[in-house]
Amino acid sequence: MNNNTTVTKNKYTPYYIAVVALTLLIVICISAAVIASVLNSGAGSTEYTLRIGDKRSELKTTSDGTILINLDLLTDMLDLQKTGSSAEPKYTSAGGDAIVFSHDSTTAKVTVAGTKNPYSIKMNVAAEASASGCMVSLDTVSSVFSGISVTVDGSVVKIARMQVTGKDELEPVKILNKSTDPMSRVLYLTGVMKEYDKYLNPSDRDAYLVLVNKENPISKDYTPNDLVTLPDSIKNGNINCDQMREYAAKALEAMIKEIESEFKADDLENKIFAQSGYRTYEYQSSLFNGYIEDEMTDDPSLSYDEAKEVVLQYSALPECSEHRTGLAIDLIDVRYNTLENPFTKPYWTEWLEENAWKFGFILRYPENAEDITGYSHESWHFRYVGRYHAERISALDITLEEYLELLNK
Ligand code: DAL
Ligand code: ZN
Repeated sequence: MNNNTTVTKNKYTPYYIAVVALTLLIVICISAAVIASVLNSGAGSTEYTLRIGDKRSELKTTSDGTILINLDLLTDMLDLQKTGSSAEPKYTSAGGDAIVFSHDSTTAKVTVAGTKNPYSIKMNVAAEASASGCMVSLDTVSSVFSGISVTVDGSVVKIARMQVTGKDELEPVKILNKSTDPMSRVLYLTGVMKEYDKYLNPSDRDAYLVLVNKENPISKDYTPNDLVTLPDSIKNGNINCDQMREYAAKALEAMIKEIESEFKADDLENKIFAQSGYRTYEYQSSLFNGYIEDEMTDDPSLSYDEAKEVVLQYSALPECSEHRTGLAIDLIDVRYNTLENPFTKPYWTEWLEENAWKFGFILRYPENAEDITGYSHESWHFRYVGRYHAERISALDITLEEYLELLNK
């Protein structure tokens, strides 16, 4: 036996093993990272990445290219509690804001923590809610939740929690409570121009809170010094008081544009019109006296004082009318040329009740508030206060009287 057999070099040298091990480790790490990022990264993660077309993902695209995502995938990451039924799921954030979707509906209801009255929001695509989750558009996710970022890069969709700037902590997730301008989405979707922003949300936030009612008259001599005439596009030929204070007038113009865009109501048949804005003392006086005469004609058994009592439920004495401020507007549905016809409620009444705050307006005389406002419900009378206060009054579902009392506390 030849002891001088050639010793073949052992291919499993420590060096070789180290290289293979390192390579394997790198491959495993990269795969793990890819899998973790492409698939659900699980509870406690701060980022969720999905790939459009991936069978394991829960994304889908509609025929017009809108991306829908199953919100149930995100509940852990966004700290959301899901309750409600499968067809009407409710997601509540850690801070107590909540959103309720309804299957096949483009309307979702949002309740901000600490308030009881939900806002309705319109989504670009109807929610698809079932036992396997609730599909909503990415656009909805990005516009409804604050504290997150939603990015689409090619076929990869990434939803990530945001960090508080300069701190090692996550921003809380809030619902429809973005620090961004709440109008940006509406303006973007419907083309109302950015030029109106300063009027909708005045920098002098408290400048339009004046209270005029039966207990708080306005001086007979008061005339606002910033009255402007409403543009022809928003008044009909019969308008009797076609001025408002500048900010209110511009905000109204934006609101009417929005309604026309929302309802595609730019034809004369369906148009919404401003009927009555700023009123002088003399004009309000003639209106009020005219109503008394009308009441006495309708019911000749009424004395002057009795007729006046009736009129006081729906029309103000000249020193007590909010129209004297230049901040109030009556809106009419020109189809019927009447403020409100009980058989033909204007199509935009409900929309205004839900959305007027975005333009800085409130419904001044709501239902069941006669004891507080002093007047019967008027679905047509809106009052400009600026968006900051209008949003709060609307969310709290209270009257201007109650709100000002809250502020003074
Ligand atoms: N209709 C309201 C109350 C006014 O006359 O000012
Ligand atoms: Zn009015």
